[in-house]
Amino acid sequence: MAGSSFGKIFRITTWGESHGPAVGVVIDGCPAGLALEENDIQAMLDRRKPGKGEYSTARAEEDRVQILSGVFEGKTTGTPISLMIENRDHRSADYSQIRDVYRPGHADYTCDEKYGIRDYRGGGRASGRETVCRTAAGAVAEKLLGELGVTFKVRPLRIGGVPAEKEEEVKDLLEKAVREGDSLGGIAECVISGVPAGLGDPVFDKADARLAAAVMSIGAVKGVEIGDGFAAADRCGSENNDSFRADESGNVCKRTNHSGGILGGITDGSDIIIRAAFKPTPSITKEQSSINREHENVTLSVKGRHDPVIVYRGMVVMEAMAAITILDMMLENMGARAENVISFYGNRK
Ligand SMILES: Cc1cc2nc3c(=O)[nH]c(=O)nc-3n(C[C@H](O)[C@H](O)[C@H](O)COP(=O)(O)O)c2cc1C
Repeated sequence: MAGSSFGKIFRITTWGESHGPAVGVVIDGCPAGLALEENDIQAMLDRRKPGKGEYSTARAEEDRVQILSGVFEGKTTGTPISLMIENRDHRSADYSQIRDVYRPGHADYTCDEKYGIRDYRGGGRASGRETVCRTAAGAVAEKLLGELGVTFKVRPLRIGGVPAEKEEEVKDLLEKAVREGDSLGGIAECVISGVPAGLGDPVFDKADARLAAAVMSIGAVKGVEIGDGFAAADRCGSENNDSFRADESGNVCKRTNHSGGILGGITDGSDIIIRAAFKPTPSITKEQSSINREHENVTLSVKGRHDPVIVYRGMVVMEAMAAITILDMMLENMGARAENVISFYGNRK
C-alpha cells in the first residue's frame, strides 16, 4: 500500500495494523544530537490514549512506546528513528461481524474495491489506531520545536453542533448519543505560536496547503480551515485584511489575524490557526442498512469499542501532524537564502 510516508526532510513512515502485534513509525531526517527519551514521546501518547476521559472508547491500551533505533546515549544520531507501540488490548473477535459486511462511513468497502483483500480486524490501516504512530512522530518533532520556541495549543470548539465550553450540554448530548448507539462529530482548533516568518513556498508547497494536507490525512477529518477560513468568504476585503503596523521597536505586527498566520503560502510570524471538522465516528451500534461482500442488502449494528466522538483524541493527532509539518518546513527553509548557506558553510578555513 502506497502513501504511508509524509514529509520531505523530517519524513515519517507509519506501519502496522490495529490488530497485528504492533504498530510503529520510522522517522528519517531528524537532526542528530537532539536529547530524546521514551518519556518525551509517552506524554503525548497518553494524551491521545483511548480509555482516557469520559467519552473515549473503553479500549484500555497501554500504548507504551519503545525506541528501537536512532537514539544513542539519550541523543538522536541522525539515523532513522524507529518507534514501536505494541497492540495489547485488541479483541479481534469483536470484528468478525464486519468481515463480510461493509460499515457505512468507514473504509471497508473502498479498501475491498481497491485491494480485493482487507484486514477487517478494526479497519486495518484505516483504523484510528494508526494515528498513535503519527502522534509518536509528532512528539519527536515537538521536542525539537520546543527548543526553537514553537508551542502548540489544541482545544475542542464544537461537539455535535454545541460550543464545547457548554460542558453540561455537551455531556448530555454525548450521553444521549451513547444511549442511542450513535456518535457525534465536532470541530477542534490548533494554535501554533512562535513560528518565524518565512516558512512555506509560494506555489504548490504553500504552508497552508501543507498543513491542510497534513490534517486532512487524519481519519474522519472532513474539513480544514486556516485562520477565519470559510467565514472570510462572507466579508469585504476591508474587514478581512489584517492591517500591518510597526511597534515602537519597528517590529512588524498585525492588528488582527484573520489570515491565521499565513500570507501567500508563507508564514508571517503571527499565530498559525488551524481548525478541523471531524465527522461522527462511523462505527455505531445503532442499526444501519448496508451491503455485504456479495452485494446483498443487510442490516448492521457495529459491535466493539468505539469513541462516541473523535474530536478529543483527534485533536492530539492534529497537533502532531501540525508539528511534523512545521518542523519539516523549518528544516527546508534553512536553504531559502544564499546568506544562510554562506553563513553556515562560508566560514570553513
Ligand atoms: C484518534 C482517532 C480515533 C478513531 N476511532 C475510531 C473508532 O473507534 N471507530 C471508528 O469507526 N472510526 C474511528 N476513527 C475514524 C476512522 O479512522 C475513519 O473514519 C475511517 O478511517 C474512514 O476514513 P474517513 O472518515 O477519513 O473517510 C478514528 C479516527 C481517529 C483520528
